[in-house]
Amino acid sequence: MIRYVVFLVLLSIWASVEGRSISQFLTEKSTGTKWAVLVAGSNGWWNYRHQADVCHAYQLLKKGGLKDENIIVFMYDDIANNTENPRPGVLINNPHGQDVYQGVPKDYVGEDVNADNFFNVILANKSGITGGSGKILDSGPNDNIFIYYTDHGGPGIVSMPTGLVYANDLINVLKKKHASGTYSKMVFYLEACESGSMFDGLLPEGLNIYVTTASKPDENSWGTYCGLGSGACLVECPPPEFDGVCLGDLYSVAWMEDSDVQDRQTTTLDNQYDRIACRTAANLTYGSHVMQYGDMELSVDALFQYMGSVSTSHSQAPCPMASAPSPMDAASFLTSSENVDQRDTELFYLTSKYQGAPKGSNEEFEANRKLNEVISQRNQVDNSVKRLGELLFGVEKGNEVLQSVRPAGQPLVDNWDCLKSYVKTFEAHCGKLTAYGKKHVRGIANICNAGIESEEMVAATAQACSS
Ligand SMILES: *[C@@H]1O[C@H](CO)[C@@H](O)[C@H](O)[C@H]1NC(C)=O
Ligand SMILES: *[C@@H]1O[C@H](CO)[C@@H](O)[C@H](O)[C@H]1NC(C)=O
Ligand SMILES: *[C@@H]1O[C@H](CO)[C@@H](O)[C@H](O)[C@H]1NC(C)=O
Repeated sequence: MIRYVVFLVLLSIWASVEGRSISQFLTEKSTGTKWAVLVAGSNGWWNYRHQADVCHAYQLLKKGGLKDENIIVFMYDDIANNTENPRPGVLINNPHGQDVYQGVPKDYVGEDVNADNFFNVILANKSGITGGSGKILDSGPNDNIFIYYTDHGGPGIVSMPTGLVYANDLINVLKKKHASGTYSKMVFYLEACESGSMFDGLLPEGLNIYVTTASKPDENSWGTYCGLGSGACLVECPPPEFDGVCLGDLYSVAWMEDSDVQDRQTTTLDNQYDRIACRTAANLTYGSHVMQYGDMELSVDALFQYMGSVSTSHSQAPCPMASAPSPMDAASFLTSSENVDQRDTELFYLTSKYQGAPKGSNEEFEANRKLNEVISQRNQVDNSVKRLGELLFGVEKGNEVLQSVRPAGQPLVDNWDCLKSYVKTFEAHCGKLTAYGKKHVRGIANICNAGIESEEMVAATAQACSS
């Protein structure tokens, strides 16, 4: 009798445990949570577009049904209330666009937008977070993750308002996340100059991660919907009061305006890739090659698996590209309001300030001074790097060694510690690398690849940058 009761008790415990885990298993299988991490890594008015991009991304995911508790937003948040904002408290990401700022969670703003917080958010390492809302990517094994990052970059790096995200650190974090078994699949969209270099030859297959980047490893990315007040607009001008800034970035706007109108239940990541690649390369004079990396088998997934879906009417335009610009002179960013090389957006902004100022005014004088200062900084960093190359490799070969680009599939640099240390050395002697100067990180990487010893690098850098 007693044995029989014990058996019944055991049986009922077993049944309830099994019952719970089966139903849990079923719901998790079919309804894993969708998570997103959105990062705008810049600050300053002339970088309006990055925060506008991220706010737009939030809105489309929110409309897709993702919950605020599952969307983690990094943005400096100095744009909406910026004294230069002609529409206080509002951000737009398209010339005819609605406000995208309203409702965006401010998880990490100001100085809390940094590489450590970004990595610890991905790894759900709460103890490593400083400041911010403390929201982390607390995902489970059946959940999907979407990461979108938009910013300035350079070979092997993307920027943060302070500091850098190095490619090898990012890849290591993604490997750790995979090893922790806390997601099913991940999609990573990245916009920055040389964004391909963050993954090319670095991201292994088998992590269940699919990536697209705005550009090849050695190519700039582009701002779009840029206004230069002069009325010289080729495709779509922002409203005239947005002089000198771009409302969005070309690749970013391409994927988001696509996700806004497509049927996310049926269109796949690969379908989307084709359309954004087409639009972003619409005219390669003012565009870039969108790249794919990682586990290509994920690319047959429908968008809704990562971005949720909306039930509105859908457009099926094959390639919603802007019409090709008409011929124009080579100093394109000064005469066109189409797309602006991200590296030139500061110059674009200052040029518009200068041109817009009343003739002979203090404002004009000030704008001219600032413009000349930035131009001379650009020349200076170019010259410093050129001299450094000559000192290390000779007048003949210096430039060639620094500019050489490794074949596709090979990482930028073999020794990342060397790169980090030599970037520090360079900055200590030659000044901080600006959004423009970051293009020279490839040269510094090539110095590491050539096996130049630390003492030699320090001595040559000191000499190259002694005025
Ligand atoms: C912007 O200004 C509004 C209205 O004054 C204020 O409520 C809001 O907190 C400000 N936001 C930031 C980021 O400063
Ligand atoms: C979490 O962050 C702390 C502080 O940065 C660090 O020491 C620790 O190694 C991190 N843990 C993991 C699992 O990454
Ligand atoms: C790209 O732009 C250039 C310069 O504006 C123009 O000459 C060329 O025809 C365009 N190419 C295409 C394919 O539209």
